[in-house]
Amino acid sequence: MDTTDLVLAIIHHLLVFSLAGIIGAEFVLIRGDLPAATLKRLVGIDRHYGIIAALIIIVGIGRILYGLKGWEFYVYTWVFWAKMAAFAVVGLLSIIPTIRFLSWNRQAVASPGFQVPAAELASVRSYVRTEALIFLLIPVFAAAMARGYGY
Ligand code: HEM
Repeated sequence: MDTTDLVLAIIHHLLVFSLAGIIGAEFVLIRGDLPAATLKRLVGIDRHYGIIAALIIIVGIGRILYGLKGWEFYVYTWVFWAKMAAFAVVGLLSIIPTIRFLSWNRQAVASPGFQVPAAELASVRSYVRTEALIFLLIPVFAAAMARGYGY
């Protein structure tokens, strides 16, 4: 038994579920109208995205280096790299929504009657939807990777 591996696995799971929660919350919040209070909430939720994603990378690298199986178990499999690529794509897709949330919130604070432009909202909805769909691939790759697939 290895406590380091266990602790890293627990933190990794808590962080990835938190990120799933954040994406889920954004997915639901942007479906409705976006009054100023909701925009503020979206900015608050979205701020945690970057922090949690950075922690996932740190803890993930920790699992590779200090986990029970050793780094060689992972880095030679395409499944591991597919998981990394999916994670990177999800992160890249989140950039436009983040920029929009900040800009909408700024405009709502400056002019109380501000309405989110319909075209911008539609594009943010499709970014977040795509993010959520690609996110689903990550645990699929993770489960296969953990079981030694992909050599
Ligand atoms: C949101 C992104 C991520 C999600 C949803 C995720 C999900 C998971 C899940 C569900 C497992 C458990 C697999 C199993 O035991 O069946 C796992 C394991 C693991 N993940 Fe992640 N992960 C993410 C990001 C990362 C990153 C960025 C890294 C590396 C830099 C990483 C490295 C690992 C490692 C090394 C394991 C251990 C696999 C094993 O038990 O052999 N993960 N991940």
